[in-house]
Formats: sequence, structure tokens, C-alpha cells
Amino acid sequence: MPSIFRPGLFDGQIALVTGGGSGIGFAIARTLGELGAKVAISGRNVERLEKAARSLREANIEVLHGQCDIRDVEHVTRWVKTVRQAWGHAHILVNNAGGQFPTQAEHLSTKGWEAVIRNNLNGTFFMTREMAVQTMIPERRGRIVNIIANVRRGFPGMVHTGAARAGVENMTKTLAIEWAQYNIQINAVAPGIIQSSGVDQYPPELVEMSRKRTPMKRLGTSEEVAELVTYLASPAASFVTGETWYIDGGANLWGDTWGIPDPEEHGGPAQPMPQSIVGAKSP
Ligand SMILES: NC(=O)c1ccc[n+]([C@@H]2O[C@H](COP(=O)([O-])OP(=O)(O)OC[C@H]3O[C@@H](n4cnc5c(N)ncnc54)[C@H](OP(=O)(O)O)[C@@H]3O)[C@@H](O)[C@H]2O)c1
Repeated sequence: MPSIFRPGLFDGQIALVTGGGSGIGFAIARTLGELGAKVAISGRNVERLEKAARSLREANIEVLHGQCDIRDVEHVTRWVKTVRQAWGHAHILVNNAGGQFPTQAEHLSTKGWEAVIRNNLNGTFFMTREMAVQTMIPERRGRIVNIIANVRRGFPGMVHTGAARAGVENMTKTLAIEWAQYNIQINAVAPGIIQSSGVDQYPPELVEMSRKRTPMKRLGTSEEVAELVTYLASPAASFVTGETWYIDGGANLWGDTWGIPDPEEHGGPAQPMPQSIVGAKSP
């Protein structure tokens, strides 16, 4: 999909994209890079990052890649410093890294809950704080985009990520207010079901159920999400902050992402989601 934005829009700018080695994050890195930004992509899997970096370089994009587990404050501090020392101050941060798995709340272990909260909530805060302190506040300039999820009506079937993403949404509002004085704008993007590497890990019947419950009757694409993020990072969004932008084919307005087991049908209290639907066991 060709970008609607003008070539060279981000010339001279540096963007950090967490989880930029795959799926939506990769599409965001590529779109910002094609429009002139230098992009720093990070994640845990080095091989995946190397492959992504090669592919971005083939598209004539300047790229740095580095291993950075967003749950680890030391990794985060080091990565932000590495990018700053290599290229100077970065003014764009896209907090895209994250992950979760379907489960019913009563079958979710403490470890599983903590894993998702640490990743999707704590990790996002650590990256955001570090970028603000090392670069954006001293420079009085910053654009932050937080990728969350469709949590408008809770997130039945994924209580951990629903709570974490709602936390990030609230953090987005708070920081929009606190950091407006530093010329930092921060917004959240809430994708519905997007055909990407993240969704490939879910059972196909679950994805199909979500597609049917989306008014537009299709999955979104990573490129569509990347265009929205690009807008929010661009001068066109210079008076926009603290908002959540849904990109979900209308899903948050109508229909649940997927069904939850009905106790009346089971003739008793809620059963675990069938394994074919759950797909992954709680760690
Ligand atoms: N696809 C959808 O339908 C959808 C809908 C709503 C929200 N989202 C969210 O959008 C984001 C991108 O999703 P996607 O579909 O592109 O999935 P994906 O390919 O699984 O992307 C997740 C990325 O985050 C990185 N990551 C995960 N945990 C990390 C950690 N602790 N530290 C650093 N990097 C980490 C992963 O890299 P490593 O494994 O190498 O660390 C990976 O590159 C995720 O946050 C996802 O939850 C996706």
C-alpha cells in the first residue's frame, strides 16, 4: 500500500520502534523509514532483528537494531543510550512491543498474569520514561505512540492484556497532560484484529470468529496501522495528544472479539476455554 505521506517527511529524524523486527512494528519502521526517518528497531530475538534490518537496508532505510527486553530497565536504558550515541537525539518513539495469550481469568496463573503485565504495561512505561528523561524532556520535543488493543469494553478472554493496555491508555492521558509543557505529544493506537505475525499464533477458528464479528468483515493490515502511526508522528498531528485512535473496522462499536463459554450451555460454572480456542497454555 503506498503511503499517502510526502516523501522526505521525516528526513533528519530518528524513530525508535520497539518490536520492530516483526509484524506491525516492522511495517511501522518501514513506513517511517521510507519517509526519511532513521529507524532503530529492538526486540529480544536477534536473528529476527537482523533479518528485518537487512530487509529495511535493502529498501535504502538507515537502520540500527539491538536486543532490548523492555521488561528490563537496564536493557532499556542501554538501548536508548546506544541509539543516542550513534545518531543523536530521537524524537519519535513507537511502543509496539508486546504479547499475550487467550485464557479465561480463573485459569490464568500468577506467573502468566505477571508476565503480560510486566511486558505490556511495565515495559511500555520503562521505554517511555527513558526516552523522556534521556532525550525528549531535555530537547523539549517528542512524539510517542503506544500500540494498545481494543479494550473499550474490557477484554474477555485476555484479562491480563486488557488490564495492561487499559493501564497504558490511562498512562497516555496522564503523560499527555504532564508533558505537554515539554512539547511532547503522546497518543495510543488501538488495533482490532490485524493480519500479522502476532495473530498467526492464534488458532485459526478464533481469528475467523473475530473477523465475522468485525463490521467490515475483514482483518486489518499492518500497513494500515503503520499509516495511522505515521500520521500521529507527523506535523499533521501537531495539536493532537492524549487520545486513543481505534483502527478496527468498527469492531469496538459492535460485537465482541470472540465468544466466552456460556455456563448455561455447560450446565455449570465456566469451563476452561476449549484448548482449540485457547491455543496456548498459561505459563
Ligand atoms: N495483531 C493484532 O491483531 C494486534 C491487535 C491488537 C494489538 N496488537 C499488539 O500490537 C503489537 C504488535 O503485534 P504483532 O501482531 O505485530 O505481533 P508480533 O509480531 O508478535 O510483535 C510483537 C513484537 O514485540 C516484540 N516483543 C515482545 N515482547 C518483548 C519484550 N519483552 N521486549 C522487547 N520486544 C518484545 C517481539 O519481538 P521479540 O519476540 O524478538 O522480543 C515482536 O517483534 C503487540 O503489542 C500486539 O500485542 C496486535
